Amino acid sequence: MNGKRQMILLNEIMKLNTKEAGWEPYAWYKEMRDNNPVYFDAEQEVWNVFLYDHVKQVLFDHELFSNKKQRSLIPIPDRLESRSNVNLVDPPEHRKRRALLSQAFTPRSLKEWEPRIQDIVDELIADMEGVPTVDIVQKLAIPLPVTVIADLLGVPSKDRRLIKGWSDILFLPYNTEDYADIDMRKGIAMKAFVEYLYPIVLEKRQHPEDDILSDLTKAELDGERLTDEEVVMSAIGLLGAGNETTTTLLSNIFYSMLYDQPNVYQELRSDLTLVPKLVEEVLRFRFPASMDRRVAQDTNVFGPQMKEGQAIVAWIGAANRDESQFPNAEVFDIHRPGNQRHLAFGAGPHFCLGAPLARMEANMAIASFVKRFADMDQAKGFDVGKHITESIAGMSLTSLPVVLKHSG
Ligand code: HEM
Repeated sequence: MNGKRQMILLNEIMKLNTKEAGWEPYAWYKEMRDNNPVYFDAEQEVWNVFLYDHVKQVLFDHELFSNKKQRSLIPIPDRLESRSNVNLVDPPEHRKRRALLSQAFTPRSLKEWEPRIQDIVDELIADMEGVPTVDIVQKLAIPLPVTVIADLLGVPSKDRRLIKGWSDILFLPYNTEDYADIDMRKGIAMKAFVEYLYPIVLEKRQHPEDDILSDLTKAELDGERLTDEEVVMSAIGLLGAGNETTTTLLSNIFYSMLYDQPNVYQELRSDLTLVPKLVEEVLRFRFPASMDRRVAQDTNVFGPQMKEGQAIVAWIGAANRDESQFPNAEVFDIHRPGNQRHLAFGAGPHFCLGAPLARMEANMAIASFVKRFADMDQAKGFDVGKHITESIAGMSLTSLPVVLKHSG
């Protein structure tokens, strides 16, 4: 694992003391956009940008802001810095690595997966039959992405609890007090995850099937096949990148439907073509993600002098509420023109490879849910503050009860 001084601790930049404040960081984002749009955190020596144009430039301009970095807000186990890691590298090298994975996420591949994903969605929704109140996080938002990604990789989806357990630990954010404990847990989880995947990769090399792991065992980088270790690390990278993020998106969609705009449910029921607009608006409105880079050369592109080697955080969740891009940005509005210009999937060379998959999962899950249930409601007495956990993608919910109204 990387050493403590290499982590960027977002919570300590935000100085929001409660989980509830972390769950709704939007007032702090606004304050920073208005008063401190280019802010240097002297304690951690990190630059921070909050405006849409700045965030976009940090994500696009790899010559000024590089992904080859020693520090990060996402814990990067040393082993992940392998030849097959698509994220910790800049163009032109990045293009070759990305090409290895991008085949798996073409529209054609997604079309082929659609029926498999619909089956998983149908099974999860069938389990809600006759249940008066369902915990949507436990029953849909967690199991859907992990089952889908396990299935697509070619890892037995019956092991989804194990996989979810390891990836949760690997993507836990660090904090100063529990640093050593968290680091130890990550080391143990990483070892167990690698030991679990290794024999599966060996088996795929011998007997390739129709899945991403088998494709990776055949893929070549600079004329050489990936090693078993590199395939294992790619799998861990994909499981990590695709799991928790999509769980957070699904949970947040339900939270928005229940609490941000409760009348939206009936609107969706009368017109299912609105579902993708809902998904995009949630990604804009309620997805407090951030990404970091290393300042690659001295620059004053945003005004203050930044020095080569310093870290910079692009606050995507703040950019997505920038009034200059999204008028009435603090209002949840699925009909907002251009809401898909949000930066929740990043921008530029590292734009999320799994975005089409995440969108497809969310659209299918919500459309199937809305078709099946006549209405849904908030559970009385639900206190969001008691069900928040820290995650890399900002705060996420551990539980969200939804009262179901069954039709017919
Ligand atoms: C709502 C769900 C998701 C969100 C919000 C999300 C967000 C992001 C963001 C912001 C980046 C850019 C990272 C950077 O700039 O350094 C990214 C990259 C990436 N994402 Fe996603 N992601 C999601 C789902 C997925 C899924 C389902 C997969 C795959 C199974 C995936 C795979 C990746 C990969 C491989 C990259 C690295 C691409 C590169 O560095 O070239 N993501 N994601």
